Amino acid sequence: MKIAMIGTGYVGLVSGVCFSDFGHDVVCVDKSEEKIAKLVAGQIPIYEPGLDDLVARNVAAGRLSFTLDLAEALKGADAVFIGVGTPTRRGDGHADLSYVYAAAEEIAQNLDGYTVVVTKSTVPVGTNREVARVIAAANAQAEFDVASNPEFLREGAAIEDFMRPDRVVVGVESERARGVMAEIYRPLSLRNAPVMYTGLESAEMIKYAANAFLATKITFINEIAALCEKVGADVQAVADGMGRDGRIGSKFLHAGPGYGGSCFPKDTSALARIGQDNASPMKIVETVMSVNDAVKRRMVEKVLDLAGGSVNGKAVAVLGVTFKPNTDDMRDSPALTIVPALVGGGADVRLVDPQGRREGEALLPGTSWHENAYTAAEGAEVVVLLTEWNEFRALDLGRLGGVMAARRFADLRNVYTPQDLEAAGFECAFVGR
Ligand code: UDX
Repeated sequence: MKIAMIGTGYVGLVSGVCFSDFGHDVVCVDKSEEKIAKLVAGQIPIYEPGLDDLVARNVAAGRLSFTLDLAEALKGADAVFIGVGTPTRRGDGHADLSYVYAAAEEIAQNLDGYTVVVTKSTVPVGTNREVARVIAAANAQAEFDVASNPEFLREGAAIEDFMRPDRVVVGVESERARGVMAEIYRPLSLRNAPVMYTGLESAEMIKYAANAFLATKITFINEIAALCEKVGADVQAVADGMGRDGRIGSKFLHAGPGYGGSCFPKDTSALARIGQDNASPMKIVETVMSVNDAVKRRMVEKVLDLAGGSVNGKAVAVLGVTFKPNTDDMRDSPALTIVPALVGGGADVRLVDPQGRREGEALLPGTSWHENAYTAAEGAEVVVLLTEWNEFRALDLGRLGGVMAARRFADLRNVYTPQDLEAAGFECAFVGR
């Protein structure tokens, strides 16, 4: 199959590269000269473990290339995927679809024979039908079908998720388009990943419903965690006991400082707006959004309490600022709520993150950056473990305490046990225990 992929962000780039690894001919297109120049030079514009090797292998095999020229990418393409961004629109919380429709217009002008136009970006219900309308209006001769193919990969585990998905969702309405999609995903079907076919609206809805459900699950355990603290229960034990019920499942029940990232905040917001627009309010999702905001603010209180009521004039080391480990992504990271609150409270905030500095420097003013946990903790009165990077999971707690002015540890990811921290002389705080 010959595939054009529009957009080289997380979803577009990973999907394009993985499709080429399946053996398809893939051309990735982006409007950013800088991104394409980097990719052509073998550099990867995002941090994603394993992606550089996969790019190199498929470029060398002649199956993967990068260009600014959409017309060239569309020549003879069996399918063109739209993998552009759909950020939250300022002001109203809706998904901003301007990049999607701009791509559709451009596709319409450059189609080369029958092509399936596939939306991979997360888009509100009705968007694929609108993409079809935009293309037909711009080019009455266009031979095409649309398909909705939402992507469920997680940052930091993107390649593994793409290559071994729990399911592939394809919304299509014509047999011909279904045939093309089946061919594209054949390597996954051979490995027993179910490829399920639905209508366009259902496929669009599956993505929002899945993400909102996961955000709800996390938020539920975060709310239980707050109650556990009040009544003397341990949320780790509670989550373990709940998760062993097969109907509940143990994943996404880890209490923490609140969910962040590029997807959950954006998709819950968009789903809430879709509900309002259709007079079918998403009350649970709306509550999840506001509880998650409260969870992040509660973390600030926790650190202040541990510091004896105030961080004014105190050095505080924050370990990890990205929204989760193995990414350089700062979007909606809890750090963006917690760190400015500590700076505002008069703390000398000392940051360390294996990948977060490039983006984080501008986003977290009034802080200093350090090489590792031990240099960040020098003279600190509190350490806050905010993102559970591997290098923070196996700290030499004695060494850490040795460089601090006071031994206090707020473990907002429940990486350590109270026994671990108390044995090293730390006064400690956790989430939900
Ligand atoms: C998510 C979805 O998992 C993925 O299917 C979708 O395509 C995009 O959105 P991602 O944003 O990359 O992926 O990260 P994920 O690993 O799902 O984590 C999201 C947030 O939830 C992070 O802030 C993480 O720290 C938090 N989280 C996750 C918890 O606090 N507890 C958990 O148990 C799981």
